[in-house]
Amino acid sequence: MTQNTAQRMTVVVTGASGRTGSRVAQAAEAAGLTVRAASRAQGFDWHDGSTWADVLRGADAAYLVYPSDVGAPDAAEAVGRLAREAVALGVRRLVLLSSRGEERALPTEEALRASGADWTVVRAAWFAQNFSEGPLVEGLRQSGELVFAGGEVQEPFVDLRDVADVVVKTLTEGDRYVGKALEVSGPRLLTFREAVAEIGRAAGRELTYTPVPAHQYGEQLAGFGVPPEEVAFLVELFESLLDGRNAYLSDGVREVLGREPRDFAEFANESAGAGVWKA
Ligand SMILES: NC(=O)c1ccc[n+]([C@@H]2O[C@H](COP(=O)([O-])OP(=O)(O)OC[C@H]3O[C@@H](n4cnc5c(N)ncnc54)[C@H](OP(=O)(O)O)[C@@H]3O)[C@@H](O)[C@H]2O)c1
Repeated sequence: MTQNTAQRMTVVVTGASGRTGSRVAQAAEAAGLTVRAASRAQGFDWHDGSTWADVLRGADAAYLVYPSDVGAPDAAEAVGRLAREAVALGVRRLVLLSSRGEERALPTEEALRASGADWTVVRAAWFAQNFSEGPLVEGLRQSGELVFAGGEVQEPFVDLRDVADVVVKTLTEGDRYVGKALEVSGPRLLTFREAVAEIGRAAGRELTYTPVPAHQYGEQLAGFGVPPEEVAFLVELFESLLDGRNAYLSDGVREVLGREPRDFAEFANESAGAGVWKA
């Protein structure tokens, strides 16, 4: 696709107020695409199909991020329905954010493939930004301790700016990435303990990591008011995703962007500089 074609392209960005969507919107605008943000503030609701057509109509492409998890029980149905509606409206180019090694995400990916869309799936490793913008940040900031179900397993945390750059590149390169599932990770395997130690060094604070069984972490979530069915889902998700299956690097960032992924240290230093983990 030429630069001019990319500049004329309108992309619907679901989850645009969220962690990946905001960065995809930013990267898409920087690449000359027109961004149409789609979250509930704009009247788009994944749980209300009557809100989808208005957001999709007239666009060329869409970035799909299913809340709160791509493997949630209702995700395949909703993503499949939305994808079919998008194709019927002429929005053929769809990029789905998925999760590396998550078996329950596979039906969602399959629903996208079966829709007739020109699809790409981007399967991400654990986000580095889970430590700075997600549920893990409060413990680190307030008590200097991360209590989590990550055991001593290794994970190649990926920087969300790389995920966003990959998503946008798949949109601006014509058909090159149509029909492909790309796996993206950071450049280095780290345990949660090592990640917390790197964050502590960057933040100039002593931070500790306390591994707990997934069910115990689930009890903590329930105590914060997370509904029981979501707790059960997350406990199972963490038990499966953190069993060592994802302790390998993926080369999607290098393949698509032609450069190395950002290192966790860069993420930790920048976030520490911004005061993310200041008590
Ligand atoms: N965390 C990880 O390490 C990881 C790794 C791989 C893949 N993933 C996948 O990443 C996805 C989450 O992406 P994220 O972290 O970018 O999201 P996020 O930061 O949690 O934000 C969720 C976004 O979805 C919107 N949203 C929530 N409920 C909605 C609804 N009913 N209808 C329409 N929009 C809704 C929110 O906006 P409003 O509230 O304004 O509507 C927000 O923009 C999940 O599918 C997960 O499986 C996560």
